[in-house]
Amino acid sequence: MDIHDSLQLILQAKDQLAGLFYERFLADYPEVRPFFEKVDFARQRVLLTTTLMIIERNYTEPTPAIEQYLQYLGTRHRAMEIPRSSYAKWIKSMMAAMRQFHGQQWSPELEQQWRSAIERARQLMLQGYDVHITV
Ligand code: HEM
Repeated sequence: MDIHDSLQLILQAKDQLAGLFYERFLADYPEVRPFFEKVDFARQRVLLTTTLMIIERNYTEPTPAIEQYLQYLGTRHRAMEIPRSSYAKWIKSMMAAMRQFHGQQWSPELEQQWRSAIERARQLMLQGYDVHITV
């Protein structure tokens, strides 16, 4: 299974992966909980699932519009005062949630593809911390 097939499974399962992710992220890193105090998680899970589609596309077929979206997402996170250092935690929890979601279908190759894709997204989001994209 490659990243594209993995994304199809994730999208078919509605917001299941995003649910696993947020449970893990908030359990593993209690220090991030205050950021989520007022968050509507039903909405948040859908937005995150959609963003995984964007992250995969940015990895397989990047376009200026997708890059701009990810930079803008970073600018929004900067406005919420999300520390740059918390991205490493986000990535750890996401990789663990993905492994749990895929079960037997998870593999080192698939993990490497998602890691690279998410790393590219992080770089673009952090560029958005500096350049203040507005759309
Ligand atoms: C690659 C990393 C990340 C991705 C792809 C991502 C994705 C998203 C998306 C798609 C949204 C919804 C934006 C919107 O409302 O329009 C969001 C909101 C949010 N994110 Fe992230 N995020 C990332 C990293 C982080 C980190 C490290 C934190 C640390 C605590 C965080 C905390 C939040 C919070 C608090 C919200 C606001 C939710 C709300 O007020 O409705 N995110 N994120």
